[in-house]
Amino acid sequence: MYGQKPNTNALVLPLFMRSSFRFSPFTLVSTPFFNRLRNFHRNLPLLDWASDFITIHRFNFLISVSNFPPISLPEIGIAMASSESILQVFCGAGPQLFYPNPCFIKSDFTYSRGSITKYKKKSGSNAIRFLKCSSVHVPRPFPATHSIRSTNFQNGRFHHLNCKCQTSESVSGFTAEDGNGTWVVDNSKQLNTIQDSNHLPNHSESKDNDKFNKEKDDSVSDSIEDEAWDLLRESIVHYCGSPIGTIAAKDPTSSNVLNYDQVFIRDFIPSGIAFLLKGEYDIVRSFILHTLQLQSWEKTMDCHSPGQGLMPASFKVRTVPLEGDDTATEEVLDPDFGEAAIGRVAPVDSGLWWIILLRAYGKSSGDSSLQERIDVQTGIKMILKLCLADGFDMFPTLLVADGPCMIDRRMGIHGHPLEIQSLFYSALLCAREMLAPEEGSTDLILALKNRLVALSFHIREYYWIDMKKLNEIYRYKTEEYSYDAVNKFNIYPDQISPWLVEWMPNKGGYLIGNLQPAHMDFRFFSLGNFWSVVSSLVTVEQSHAILDLIEAKWSDLVADMPFKICYPALEGQEWQIITGSDPKNTPWSYHNGGSWPTLLWQLTVACIKMGRPEIAERAVKIAEERLAKDKWPEYYDTKKARFIGKQSRLFQTWTIAGYLVAKLLLADPNKAKILMTDEDSELVNAFSCMITSNPRKKRGPKSSQKTYIV
Ligand code: GLC
Repeated sequence: MYGQKPNTNALVLPLFMRSSFRFSPFTLVSTPFFNRLRNFHRNLPLLDWASDFITIHRFNFLISVSNFPPISLPEIGIAMASSESILQVFCGAGPQLFYPNPCFIKSDFTYSRGSITKYKKKSGSNAIRFLKCSSVHVPRPFPATHSIRSTNFQNGRFHHLNCKCQTSESVSGFTAEDGNGTWVVDNSKQLNTIQDSNHLPNHSESKDNDKFNKEKDDSVSDSIEDEAWDLLRESIVHYCGSPIGTIAAKDPTSSNVLNYDQVFIRDFIPSGIAFLLKGEYDIVRSFILHTLQLQSWEKTMDCHSPGQGLMPASFKVRTVPLEGDDTATEEVLDPDFGEAAIGRVAPVDSGLWWIILLRAYGKSSGDSSLQERIDVQTGIKMILKLCLADGFDMFPTLLVADGPCMIDRRMGIHGHPLEIQSLFYSALLCAREMLAPEEGSTDLILALKNRLVALSFHIREYYWIDMKKLNEIYRYKTEEYSYDAVNKFNIYPDQISPWLVEWMPNKGGYLIGNLQPAHMDFRFFSLGNFWSVVSSLVTVEQSHAILDLIEAKWSDLVADMPFKICYPALEGQEWQIITGSDPKNTPWSYHNGGSWPTLLWQLTVACIKMGRPEIAERAVKIAEERLAKDKWPEYYDTKKARFIGKQSRLFQTWTIAGYLVAKLLLADPNKAKILMTDEDSELVNAFSCMITSNPRKKRGPKSSQKTYIV
C-alpha cells in the first residue's frame, strides 16, 4: 500500500520471531487476522480482549508452523494453554531444560547464554534476585560513554549500570530510601506568598486599573515561575554526583510512591527542554548518554525479552552496598522497560522522544558532537531498526499494543494510535537530519524516507476528519471489494457517534485517535494532534484547522484547566469493556478524559509554529490561576477540570516543567524551532507524485462497474 510493502520473505519464521516492542511472547498482528472472530461481534466496538486473542503464541507457532491449522477460538485457547505449559517447562525447570532456547534468537550485540544467573545481595540489604534467562550483553564495539560499562561485568550485574562511589555518607543524589521520605520543602511559605499576591482587585474598565492589573499579573506570574524553577531543580536526580534526570513526582503527601520516584524518559522531555532553554545543557547531555547505555540492556518477563533498541520507560538510581566492602556503596541505574510497570506495557514512545530530545539538544546548544558520536549514531539506528522492521501490517503506521505512550494503561488505543504515529513521524524526521551518511546505513535511510512519505500520506488522508469528511463517511457505501474502493477500511457509517455529530464545528477539524479495519476511533487525542502540527505531519491547512477546533471547543478541551488528554471520556459499558473497568480511568478522570497541565508545552509549540501564540497564552493564563495553589497536580478530574484528580500526585515534575517551557517559549517564540520540523520539499514532491501517479489512490466517486463481494 503506497510504498509500504508487506513482508514477502520466503522464510516466514523470522517474520514471526522478529523483535518487537512487547514483553508478551505473542506475535503482535493487526485486526484483519482476527476478522473471523470479530465478525461475531460486528456491533461491538473493537474490544481490547480481542487484541489478546488475535495473537498466536510464538511457541505454538514454532511447533505447528509446518502444518498451520485454520484458527478458531477454541483452538487458540488450546494452543495458548499448551504453549503456556511449554513456557513453564522452559523457564522454570532448571538450566538443563533451558538451553537451547528457541525464543531467544536475537539480532546484533547479544548472544544466547542459556543459563540461569541468580544474584542475591548480602543479607541486611534489600535482596535483589534476578532470573537471567535471556542473553548476555556484549558491549558495543566503540568506546563506552562512561567507565561504568566495564564495572558491569566485573560485578556480574548485567541488569544495571553502576558506578562505584565513595562511602555512604558522601553519596549524593536520590535513592529509594531518601527519595520521598525525607524530602522537605517549605512549600507553605512559597505558596502563601503566591496566594497572597493572588488576591488582586477586580479588573476595571479604566486604563490605570488595567495597567495596575497587568503589573500585578506579571509579578504573580514571575513568582509562580520562580517557584516552578525551585521545584524543578529540587526534582533533579544525581548519579555519581552529576545530574542525570528529574524524578517523576515529589509528592510529600502521598504514601504510595509506586514508580513515581523514578526518572521517566517521557516525563523528562519538558524538564530537558526547560534546561536547554535556560542554557543548562549538561543535565540533558548526561540524560541522553546514560539512557543510551540502558537501551541495549536485556530485560525479560517470563523469559521473553522485548526488541533490541527499546528505550526504558523509566530508571531509578539505587544506592547499594559495594560487594566485598561493607563501608562503601555504589550507585546503580536500574531501568524498567515495562517488565515491572502496571500492566507490563512497553514504552514505545521513549525511544522516539529520545531522538527528538537529542536533536533539540544539538539545535539549542550548537554542539553537534553528541549526535555525531558513534555510540549515539548506533543508538538512533537501533531505535529505527526496531520501528522500521518488517511486519505483517499493510499500513505504514506503527503497530503497537495498548498503553505504549503517555496513556500507559488500557484505553483501547492499541493498533495504530495517533500519539505514537506523530512521535514516530517526528523522530524519523529528526533522525534523518542527524544520521551520518555512510555505506552501512544506506538501506536504513532509504527505508526511513519511504516510510515518511507513506506515513504522512496515510495520516493526512485517512485520519483527518472535519465536517466535509464526516458527511462523506455518513454516506459511505460498505463491503466494497476493489482496488479503488472509496471506503477502504470498510467503515460502517453507524459508527459515527451522536456526540461527534453535535461536536464537530463548522470550522476546524482534527486527526482521529486510531484507524483499524472497520473501526475509526473518533476520540480527540490532544498530544497526537499537537505533535502532528509541530512535526508537520499534517498540512498547513490542517494545522490551522486543528487550532480552529481547539478555539471552537475551548470549553470542552480547556475549561478550567488545560488540557484534556482526550475527548470525550468512555462511559458506561464502553468504559467497562475497553478499560477493563479500570477504577483509575473512570469517566473524566486520569487518562479517560482527565485534564493534564503538562500538555501546555506541546500546545504552545504547536501554536507558535502556526503563528497563533495567543491561543497558548490564554491557556497558560488559566493554568496559572491554579497550578501553584493546587501544588502542581499531575492531572485534574471532571468534565470541566474543576477538581484535582482523585489519585493525582502533587508536585508532578512534568506539570512544573510543562508550565515553564510554555512560559519560556511564549517569551521567546523563536526558540520553539528546536522542536519543530518543517515540511520539506522532498517530501511534498514525493507526496504529490504518489497522489497523481496512481489513479487507484484517488478518492472520489466510483465507477458503476466495480466488483462487489456479496
Ligand atoms: C503515569 C502516566 C505516564 C507518566 C507516569 C509518570 O503512568 O500515565 O504518562 O509517564 O505516570 O509520571
